[in-house]
Amino acid sequence: MSVTIKSDSEIELMREAGRILALVHQNLGKEIKPGMSTLDIDRLGEEMIRSYGCIPSFLNYCGYPASICVSVNEEVVHGIPSKDRIIKEGDIVSLDAGVIYNGYHSDAARTVAVGEISKEAQALIDVTRMSFFEGIKKAKAGNHLYDISAAIGDYATARGYGVVYDLVGHGIGANLHEEPEVPNFRQRWPHKGIKLRPGMTLAVEPMINAGAPEVLWTDDEWTVITEDRSLSAHYENTILITEGEPEILSLTEDEKAAGYLDLLR
Ligand code: CO
Repeated sequence: MSVTIKSDSEIELMREAGRILALVHQNLGKEIKPGMSTLDIDRLGEEMIRSYGCIPSFLNYCGYPASICVSVNEEVVHGIPSKDRIIKEGDIVSLDAGVIYNGYHSDAARTVAVGEISKEAQALIDVTRMSFFEGIKKAKAGNHLYDISAAIGDYATARGYGVVYDLVGHGIGANLHEEPEVPNFRQRWPHKGIKLRPGMTLAVEPMINAGAPEVLWTDDEWTVITEDRSLSAHYENTILITEGEPEILSLTEDEKAAGYLDLLR
């Protein structure tokens, strides 16, 4: 399958999927408290997704056993929720969620603080989010895909962080994962990636480590951790390419109120 251009009616469905997923993140993020298990978080998230009339897209995807990927501290992505994994004050927790609304997907992730966290952990969360916005400044028709990749990677590497290169973002639409792959680091010349066109929808998702970029898969075959056990953060949104600045389909109301859209200008 090649890169798809969404029709106006498909875009409407993806807007609605994104709006609902943003609500899930906004509400779930506020529920995260010390003493919860990662399974409690998954249960809450799944309930929210279903209450808005959506299907959790991760559940049973390639055998993944939950609706929300919950990845704590040195876990990068795809943490499997467990009743035995209790989060505590000072942890950072990456919540990755996907919803299907009338056949169309939205995918987004946020790393949230559990109570008070260290300055280093907060800086990592902030750099990860900023790298996303630096990247999508380049996400407009006429530019090339790897302009986004280079902007994300350069931003984080220049600040001393490790950009995960073993996992990438992706096209999204009627499927969770569509072409193209969206790397988070500069690609070797002369590779530019596809030319961006209005109607393309992408899940852009920098995964950034406080230490080295290398990651490992654990024995559960899902959970990805940093090789050096440094903290890792994740920030992902589903975006729509337009002639001008991209439309971020899964941005939360709190993020809009915080002025994040100004970061695109
Ligand atoms: Co994704």
